Order: sequence, then C-alpha cells, then structure tokens
Amino acid sequence: METLQFKCTYYKKTESELTPTEQLLVGEAKKATDRSYSPYSRFCVGAAVLLDDGTIVLGSNQENSSFPQGQCAERTAVFYANSQYPDKTVTAICVAARSADGGFIPRPISPCGGCRQVLSETEDRQKSPVKILLYGTEGIYIIESVKHLLPISFDESYM
Ligand code: THU
Repeated sequence: METLQFKCTYYKKTESELTPTEQLLVGEAKKATDRSYSPYSRFCVGAAVLLDDGTIVLGSNQENSSFPQGQCAERTAVFYANSQYPDKTVTAICVAARSADGGFIPRPISPCGGCRQVLSETEDRQKSPVKILLYGTEGIYIIESVKHLLPISFDESYM
C-alpha cells in the first residue's frame, strides 16, 4: 500500500498585512454583499474578481424559491468576468459574507465544492493561478491557487 498525502498551503493575514490591491479587493467583496439576493438563507455573500488589466468584477449570491436554481457569489462573478471579458485573465478573487444578523462572519468564508471546480477550470483555461482571498473579521486566508483547495481535481484530461 502506498500512502499519499495532500499538502495544502495557505496564509492567514490581517487586513493591514495585505497589499493595497488586495485591500481594495476585500473592500469590493464586502460591498458586493449588499447586492446579494438571499431571502431564503439570509446569508449574503459577495465576490470580487480581479482581472489582469486591473478591472474588478463583482458578484453576489442569487437565490431562488426553487432552491437548486440559486447561484453562489463566486460563480456569479467568475462567469460574468468570463462572459464579459473573455480575453482577460482572472488573477484573484476575494469572497466575503454577512450572516443573518447583518455582520461579517468571523471565520473566513469557505467556497463550496462547485465553486472550487469552476475556479479550477478557470485556472486550467487561462494556464495561470487564481489567488483566493477569503475574508473573515478574524483574518483573511490567502491561497495562491485553487489547486490547494481542490487536490486531485477532475478535469478534461480524464475524458
Ligand atoms: N454561498 C455562496 O455564495 N458562496 C459560498 O462560498 C458559500 C455559500 C451562498 C449559497 C447560498 O445562497 C447561501 O450562500 C447559503 O448557502
């Protein structure tokens, strides 16, 4: 038997330890939570995608009374970026969330498996990593590539 292990490296930083661009992205992701449509979960998620030319695209979670039809903030932002700016590279995404009481959550938000898969394919398409910033009031997790969040990911090479 062989034992194989994943190595997942990520960093925890305070807001003041971020670069000015990262701080801007955090601010935009927080703002994007105001545009969330989440009457069912009352969990408002915002995502800010940074493109290689400095453009920032915002997305938020959009729910529906037919629950499976809803969409996470990350996918809203990434799909919008890919459809509006197909020739630009996604360099980073920041995600922030407010809970039903209206405040930002303490623990950095964790993207769902489906969004990790979409971010993974974004990296494969553009052949460069997407830096992920996960905001919480207790700190910000920085992950240099979604591959750290989704090891042994499925991709077209298996088909
Ligand atoms: N949600 C996101 O938008 N992103 C995440 O990273 C986690 C969950 C949304 C989906 C749903 O609208 C609500 O949060 C509760 O799950």
